[in-house]
Amino acid sequence: MRRKRIWSAAAAVTLAMASIAAGCGDDDDGDSGGGGGDGGDVGKVAVLLPDSKSSVRWETYDRPLLQKAFEDAGVDVTISNAEGDKSAQQQQAEQAITDGAKVLLLVNLDSGSGAAIEENAKAQGVKVIDYDRLTLDTDANDYYVSFDNEKVGQLQGQGLVDCVGDKQGAQIAVLNGSPTDNNATLFKNGYDSVINPKFDSGEWKEIDDQSVPDWDNQKALTIFEQMLQANDNKVDGVLAANDGLGNAAISALKQRKLAQVPVTGQDATLEGIQNIVNGDQCMTVYKPTKKEADAAADLAIALAKGEKPSATTTPVDNGTQKVPSVLLDPIAITKDNIKDYLGEIDFPKKEDICAGKVEANCEKLGL
Ligand code: BGC
Repeated sequence: MRRKRIWSAAAAVTLAMASIAAGCGDDDDGDSGGGGGDGGDVGKVAVLLPDSKSSVRWETYDRPLLQKAFEDAGVDVTISNAEGDKSAQQQQAEQAITDGAKVLLLVNLDSGSGAAIEENAKAQGVKVIDYDRLTLDTDANDYYVSFDNEKVGQLQGQGLVDCVGDKQGAQIAVLNGSPTDNNATLFKNGYDSVINPKFDSGEWKEIDDQSVPDWDNQKALTIFEQMLQANDNKVDGVLAANDGLGNAAISALKQRKLAQVPVTGQDATLEGIQNIVNGDQCMTVYKPTKKEADAAADLAIALAKGEKPSATTTPVDNGTQKVPSVLLDPIAITKDNIKDYLGEIDFPKKEDICAGKVEANCEKLGL
């Protein structure tokens, strides 16, 4: 029996040096297997991402940056992606808790399914951090980490105003994000505060204003084509809530061989930045993902150690309780300041932006 224990401890060493510390006192930790955890009292963390289609950000930036933040701290993390499927996300959460997760970082697919996941976690003593999207109407979220999302919307609204200029009677189409994403509501509050006065005064005319279910880019294309169809192809600007929706509008304009018009975006994706360089898009909003990932990881690591996080938080009302929150600053990007952010770990690389056909336009911008 004793001998067997020694052997299993030795096997654990070959799997993960760090797990040996826990192996002495607690055999259960011995099979945590290669996740990089340092055992001891630090619980595991599970990250639940929403999908990979509504924005490339989740897999391109959030996953690797979160992975690295936890690995650097020696904390065991598993990251899963629900690919838009609410019951899959529910199962991923349950599996993570069964596997010993003590903290969940959740990007919900809507508040109802998010609240169910969080309440189940809470009932089992697992802490929950809302990552990027706030889950409404529950008392089970412990923290919320995101950007000032109304500010994101204000930057989009102001970006469109600046790009459209003083064209009187400009005809504007609005493509909102998913109606089930609280962020989409906040973005809309932000840009409406800037553009609605233009509609009200008659300076601009609103062609249409529609939400895009699940931020689905394909649906955005269809919705925008119908808007164009109904308005005899006349459009002078598009308020699109992220780069994917913006690109859908740009594709529709190109398919109909219509002129470039100002289109907004969000996420500073490679496609979005290339669209800006090519003159197809007027701005995007860069939300430095590393800051968001690090802020969330710091909170999660403290919670996983059973400590009280030291971060400065502000209370955000989710309809049921005030959730202690960390809200970061978004940055508007136009063709004039792309160069200031090249080289940032969470911003597209110059060699990718300026590849192939985009190279000539990069040169024109001095990139
Ligand atoms: C995020 C955006 C993202 C969108 C679609 C929002 O909740 O804040 O960055 O573009 O979801 O995934």
